[in-house]
Amino acid sequence: MKLTDAKRDYFRKLSKEEGYRSRSAYKLAQLDKSYHILKAKSNVVDIGCAPGGWLQIARRATSRGKVIGVDILNVAPIEGVTILKGDIEDTHTINLLIQTLNGKADTLLSDVSPTVSGIWNVDHAKQISLSEKSLTIATKVLVRGGNAILKVFEGELLKEFRKETEKHFSRVLLTKPLASRQQSSELYMVCLGFEYNR
Ligand SMILES: C[S@@+](CC[C@H](N)C(=O)[O-])C[C@H]1O[C@@H](n2cnc3c(N)ncnc32)[C@H](O)[C@@H]1O
Repeated sequence: MKLTDAKRDYFRKLSKEEGYRSRSAYKLAQLDKSYHILKAKSNVVDIGCAPGGWLQIARRATSRGKVIGVDILNVAPIEGVTILKGDIEDTHTINLLIQTLNGKADTLLSDVSPTVSGIWNVDHAKQISLSEKSLTIATKVLVRGGNAILKVFEGELLKEFRKETEKHFSRVLLTKPLASRQQSSELYMVCLGFEYNR
């Protein structure tokens, strides 16, 4: 067995044992351990939240804030979490999210990913386009000084997207948590200190 397969199996087994719905949960747990973006009172919005691993981590870390998830797929209920079903490319979904939040969010999470076709540049373009939607939502819902984590697929459009993101946050870092498969092209953009326009 290759080391990377062993790592994937390790996190899969751990998520079953610890009651997380996805291996992805450990990606957010590791990112939060490094960047401390989930606080007890944080209001959190999670874009592309199914099956709900990140929501579980967010709910445990932010005992007193609102946690709202959005996905095009159904997500089984999680206590203390509001789940909205909808497509983030549809303005109706964004309006529903803003209405449900009824205030500002401290943290926006986005692990959004298209169904991958295997054609690398097509998947990259589609994923970055979804991440752009998440960034637009972040600019609508985040409080000044708020933070975001945005999944991105590596590729030629990433540099431009990062520049766009840097217009709205005081610091933007690219990182890959240990729980993310080494051979996958996903990275996470950690965006700190939201400002409307820099
Ligand atoms: C990698 S999964 C997220 C895993 C999640 N973070 C977890 O821990 O369980 C990516 C999600 O993005 C969702 N997604 C893709 N396109 C979307 C869209 N246009 N609107 C809303 N969600 C979308 C998919 O349905 C999928 O559930």
